[in-house]
Amino acid sequence: MSTVVLVGAQWGDEGKGKITDFLAEKADYIVRYQGGSNAGHTVVVGNEKFQLHLVPSGILYPDKVSVIGNGVALDPVILLKEIDDLSSRGIDVKNLKISSRAHIVMPYHKKLDSLQENGGRRIGTTRRGIGPLYADKISRTGFRVIDLLDKDLFPERLKAIVEEKNCILEKIYGSTAFVYEELLDEFRYYAERLRPMVTDTSLLVNQAIDAGKKVLFEGAQGTLLDIDHGTYPYVTSSHPVSGGACVGAGVGPTKINRVVGVVKAYTTRVGEGPFPTELFNETGDLIRQRGDEYGTTTGRPRRCGWLDAVILRYAARINGLTDIAITKLDVLDTFEKVKICTAYRYRGQIIREFPESLEVLRECEPIYIEMDGWQQDIAGITRFEDLPLKAREYVNKMVELCGVNHCLLAVGPGRSQTMVTRDVFAPA
Ligand code: IMP
Repeated sequence: MSTVVLVGAQWGDEGKGKITDFLAEKADYIVRYQGGSNAGHTVVVGNEKFQLHLVPSGILYPDKVSVIGNGVALDPVILLKEIDDLSSRGIDVKNLKISSRAHIVMPYHKKLDSLQENGGRRIGTTRRGIGPLYADKISRTGFRVIDLLDKDLFPERLKAIVEEKNCILEKIYGSTAFVYEELLDEFRYYAERLRPMVTDTSLLVNQAIDAGKKVLFEGAQGTLLDIDHGTYPYVTSSHPVSGGACVGAGVGPTKINRVVGVVKAYTTRVGEGPFPTELFNETGDLIRQRGDEYGTTTGRPRRCGWLDAVILRYAARINGLTDIAITKLDVLDTFEKVKICTAYRYRGQIIREFPESLEVLRECEPIYIEMDGWQQDIAGITRFEDLPLKAREYVNKMVELCGVNHCLLAVGPGRSQTMVTRDVFAPA
């Protein structure tokens, strides 16, 4: 058995796309298990840049099977556009499989997401319909792919649900209604385009695991955006944590070998909510500029700050991390001093564990250790041993503070700019 779950250890945007792409080369199956088009992965292959929202990054390797699991919020508009874009750039998508149990993002989900954001309940969402979709899933009024493919049942159910949604849109939000017949036509078209790719992906993935294939489960967003374990309510509506891989792909926990947390060498966040190590000065601006910290999905500038080891320890615990993959270490190349937050000070008390109350987190002041920067361009270095001593000391400190060793280290966006320090697909 050779299975790896890859999760974001911070607030998302840790560079998971790049690490997934790197590990995908060694894997046979790449499986998305949660989230939807709110995610945005940028993968650089040679001179070409690919921005993927729904299609697993494994699609860029022709011989791999890419799977959209049951836990994913599937927006057919975005997915089909992505498929068409990839095809037009010569990428073969014949190995893309879609779970029959994944829930479908409907236009009213996106509209409601925007209306809620414009109203008093501002979370800073990506407005991709994610919250309303998962709310419908849990309240059992959603459409799964299998429901969409059912030519007899779908029109009937859609009619009833559109009536209900229109009532909410018009009466609560004073917005415009959807026309049932138009939606039906549109989604009948999507059904036929998706149909050849749809299958029972839990069965497919379990059979692959049993046959000894290498399977990579690709999480979107990050630990602190998890609906249960994140900074609620400033979270997404799914489970980006490693446990989400079991539910969202239909595999048992006994089938998971390793859990890799992707950690950016500093911290960023988009959207609202407290962020203890956030920098409001030129250091924060420099990190944003050097790290090109602008959202792939929305283009929003990301909030930037020093690395927070309280978060890393929390992520290690919640996900059961076996390894960390460190990204964007090169962004810190020019700094004379670098800082890591090791604990918080809250009303005179020292807090070492990530607090569950946002009100507490809001008042937490970071306690930092300061280290010398390496002030050297490391983008071309390919072996850990060749990194400048100060950079290795920084990495070693990260490992010491979270108690999890590294398996990968990235010093630039290209495929070749990743050092391997442990093969996570190797048998234990
Ligand atoms: P939603 O997932 O669009 O509902 O947004 C909820 C929160 O999660 C907002 O703060 C978003 O900015 C954040 N979020 C959603 N997807 C991502 C992502 O891929 N990276 C970083 N933040 C995200």
